[in-house]
Amino acid sequence: MIRRYVFGSPIETDAVLCKPEAAVWQEGRLLLRDNVFCCGLKEDEIVYGLGQNVRGINKRGWIYESNCTDDPQHTECKTSLYGAHNFLILDGEKKCGIFVDTPAKVTFDIGYTDYEQMRIAPATPDFEFYLIEEESLDGVVSTFRKLIGRSFIPPLWAFGYGQSRWGYDSAEGVRQVAAGYRDKHLPIDSIYLDIDYMERYKDFTINEDTFPDFDRLIGQMKEQGIHLVPIIDGGVKKEDGYDVYEEGKAGGYFCKDADGEDFVIGVWPGKSCLPDMLNEEAGSWFAHKYKILLDKGIDGFWNDMNEPAIFYSEKGLREVFEKIDEYRTQNLDVDTFFAFQNMVADISSSPKDYGAFYHNYKGKRYCHKEVHNLFGYYMTRRASEAFEELSPKKRILLFSRASCIGMHRYGGVWQGDNSSWWSHLLMNIRMMPSLNMCGFLYTGADLGGFGDNTTEDLLIRWLSFGVFTPLMRNHSIRGTRMQEAYRFRSMHLMRDVIGVRYKLLPYLYSEYMKAALRDEMMFRPLGFVYGKDKLARRVEDQLMLGTSIMIAPVYEQNAEGRTVYFPEPMKLIRFHGGEIQEEGVYPKGFAYVEMPLGDVCVFLKENRILPLSKGGENVEEVDFEDLTLYCFGEKVQPYEYYRDDGESRVYDLKSGIRILTV
Ligand code: GLC
Repeated sequence: MIRRYVFGSPIETDAVLCKPEAAVWQEGRLLLRDNVFCCGLKEDEIVYGLGQNVRGINKRGWIYESNCTDDPQHTECKTSLYGAHNFLILDGEKKCGIFVDTPAKVTFDIGYTDYEQMRIAPATPDFEFYLIEEESLDGVVSTFRKLIGRSFIPPLWAFGYGQSRWGYDSAEGVRQVAAGYRDKHLPIDSIYLDIDYMERYKDFTINEDTFPDFDRLIGQMKEQGIHLVPIIDGGVKKEDGYDVYEEGKAGGYFCKDADGEDFVIGVWPGKSCLPDMLNEEAGSWFAHKYKILLDKGIDGFWNDMNEPAIFYSEKGLREVFEKIDEYRTQNLDVDTFFAFQNMVADISSSPKDYGAFYHNYKGKRYCHKEVHNLFGYYMTRRASEAFEELSPKKRILLFSRASCIGMHRYGGVWQGDNSSWWSHLLMNIRMMPSLNMCGFLYTGADLGGFGDNTTEDLLIRWLSFGVFTPLMRNHSIRGTRMQEAYRFRSMHLMRDVIGVRYKLLPYLYSEYMKAALRDEMMFRPLGFVYGKDKLARRVEDQLMLGTSIMIAPVYEQNAEGRTVYFPEPMKLIRFHGGEIQEEGVYPKGFAYVEMPLGDVCVFLKENRILPLSKGGENVEEVDFEDLTLYCFGEKVQPYEYYRDDGESRVYDLKSGIRILTV
């Protein structure tokens, strides 16, 4: 059951596709006081949701903001990351979903001020509010997901392993990475191009000095079964003579300041302008620029810096320099020194700047801060809409850093600039089901960690979890330890682990597609499946993956295994040294399971089938028909195996599903 309430005059986000009639607000469990929704939380009540954010699967005990934020320090004390995902689920006596549909900020105090209270505070009085009540948690999710429309479907090759790094600064460098993988028989499907491929960080340009033969490079990679996936940034360099800038300026496509002048910010290329992605004409103009790369044979992109990231605004920078001049002559004491220091530190992503430029959205002028969370969404949506026109037959891979619910229909998300920390591997695990609830199925984190130096064991453990995430990409920042799999002493273990991905592929793709086409989750917290089991409900480091298996990744350094909670009897399937071993059945309860570095373990449910392939060195090599079906139990249920050509844009559950039996 869905109820929709309208407060004030909301700005349309296009998150919800088919809106039910609005109802008149009536107080029930939720009270509305001064634009804040409040409700009590029972002691054992769990609150799920909020998509991409810090902390646990159960969001209780912290305060969160939905406010797309470019902040690479994903520490526990933060309240928001790159996405704004305003959907949560109360798992108490009744199962209830709440969605706040607004492009502006919302604050969720989920038992932070008072553990027994939840408070939801939209920043403005204009928003739509949805309440969903269903019998089960899965029911709440699927009702919500039907409301917001089908999740993005990438091409099949995008389920292969990808290698990325900010710092592959020449065609030769890219060739070496490809050779590093292919020569050592380490499976790979894609290499990502970070801003290094551009000419001085200008969107839709190629650095002719360092990538002199870009077309040839694409061709050579294709011959090796490798897709190149370039990055596109949200800001356009302000440079006379640069055609994209000149066209944007002439067309009036950039966001304007209060005086109607192009708003100038600083990002990678220095002074830049922001295309008004929200505006149909401007956004579509920018999106059609991707054609330059599509025409060269590129079939995947990642959209970045689209919160939008603002290092500084021209005006903000001027003010800082003026103030520095003032400080120059002073004796900086405790207060003035910190004020001076903070002034420089706070210049980026400043609320003042977000309040200083404007969009022309659906025929009206809006200050950016009113529609902040739509920028990354619309950048990605416009690109996706252009792809439908430019590549009507073939799916194009697309994922974004910033997002908002609604964007899930147009692209995936990666989980942003994490660090090479064990705690961020755990955060990656926990974020998967939360993102799935909000419609984001194609997602994954920078495996091995983006910032800071990785270690061999962290990379192996992270890959051992990454084999399950739809986006499986190893990415890192320049200046840190290189983390390509072939660089390590235990390369053979990396090969085994990445190889597991290709064995799992028939199952993963089938589960992904069923989840997308049926508006379901691919990764679920244990509490969704074993809701009556008090222990299962509290598990924060194991996940149900699809219909057949549970996973329990190792996320601690020097661990040789871990304690696993079995909510029902399950059989251990161990991937070890390129082999698949069927081990014993664990009864319900806790057990310690050995998981040495390089082993990947999955736990198979009784009477369910896990189809596995023989693997391959890229997706093309995987034989999706030559399967081995793993199962145990007396009454093994048939498995619904989904397959399609992995490329065309026509999806049909009926013709795609085949029943596998043993
Ligand atoms: C941003 C992205 C990161 C990328 C870098 C350079 O920090 O999040 O993935 O490597 O920009 O483009």
